[in-house]
Amino acid sequence: MNFALSQDQIEAREWARAFAKEVIAPSAFLHSREKIKPSLLEEISKKGFMTLLVPETLGGLALDAVSFALVMKEISKACGSVGVTVAVTNMIADVLVREGSSFQHQKYLADLVSGRSLTASFCLTENSAGSDAKALKTSAKKNISGYQISGEKIFVTNGAFSGFFLVMARTSDEAVSAFLVERGAPGLQLGKEEDKMGLTGSSTIRLSLENVQVKPEQLVGKEGDGFKIAMRALDGGRISVSAQALGIAEAALEAGIRYAKERQAFGKSLSDFQAIQWKLADSATSLSAAELLMLRAATLKSEKKDFTQEASQAKLFSTEAACKVCEEMIQIHGGYGYTKDYPVEKYFRDVRVTTLYEGTSEIQRLVIARNLLR
Ligand code: CAA
Repeated sequence: MNFALSQDQIEAREWARAFAKEVIAPSAFLHSREKIKPSLLEEISKKGFMTLLVPETLGGLALDAVSFALVMKEISKACGSVGVTVAVTNMIADVLVREGSSFQHQKYLADLVSGRSLTASFCLTENSAGSDAKALKTSAKKNISGYQISGEKIFVTNGAFSGFFLVMARTSDEAVSAFLVERGAPGLQLGKEEDKMGLTGSSTIRLSLENVQVKPEQLVGKEGDGFKIAMRALDGGRISVSAQALGIAEAALEAGIRYAKERQAFGKSLSDFQAIQWKLADSATSLSAAELLMLRAATLKSEKKDFTQEASQAKLFSTEAACKVCEEMIQIHGGYGYTKDYPVEKYFRDVRVTTLYEGTSEIQRLVIARNLLR
């Protein structure tokens, strides 16, 4: 494996870094109190950030998976809430490129490219189907006009902003299928925002579907393909979550280094104490190791090789490492780290969910172990 980034990959990272610093970072701390403004999402969409992996022929920026991960890291470093919003939208765009029909490309993908739909949402989880995603109960009953979908989805990222939703529903006792459901469809109700610990600028809602009629053209892939479509989407999504965690933790590490140099105690700078230096050294080392795992998974995805195990390893290691780094940076800040006057408080809250969403650390271990034992 070649560890050097290509010129294109470096340029993609620099482009995202400059945009994130100039456009996203200024409102990052506002997102502890309010949702991301649609005007910010419009600006992000206009630059092509919502369809990064989409081929140019379909209006996207055609980045490879490594560039995509690097871009996701830069955006999340500026603001975790924006990071997850962009990541999930790209995950749906990637599903549409891979599995969508030409009708779906021309309608739904084009809506993301043009910004008519600012974001898109992935609707798998239900009240009694979280880690055990296959236990989902939402049903799609075939009728003369297509399918009628009924059920309840929870933890729908981007719900408030999305023009359409990728909904996994049961078409028989054994089969799950994937459908594109449009915002405003009769019978579709958007629920209230979850009151979350972190990533408070991003939207997370419940979705209730009561006899929502969809046409046959809104079925993604073939009937019964839905679970595999969702699992393949999550394989890619897990590389994004690794990138999100790394971005947030890198911001925390930089804040920790700044504070350690500024703060005086016992007549010297905190950074002169070996106890502090070791925290910084261990944090930087674990983030570097995590980034290599992320780049390995992304490289395999780019090369169209199997990357399920590697994506789970990258997510597991990066998110656990990132949580630990954010906690250590609070420790370096002492009591101040527990206040909203310092950014590490936000990083700690934002990073925590990365070991939970798109598969908990326990589910990543299960996926990795199953691959080892196959
Ligand atoms: N790619 C393609 N196909 C896959 C796959 C993958 N990565 N993983 C599984 N499959 C296929 C299997 O081959 C199997 O196919 P067959 O029926 O043809 O044999 C089928 O899917 C079922 O697989 P399993 O028998 O392994 O299913 P399982 O129920 O035992 O376990 C699981 C699956 C790994 C535990 C899975 O349920 C899982 O990943 N759970 C976590 C769910 C998750 O990550 N949820 C996050 C939701 S999204 C979110 O967080 C918020 C957001 O907005 C993004």
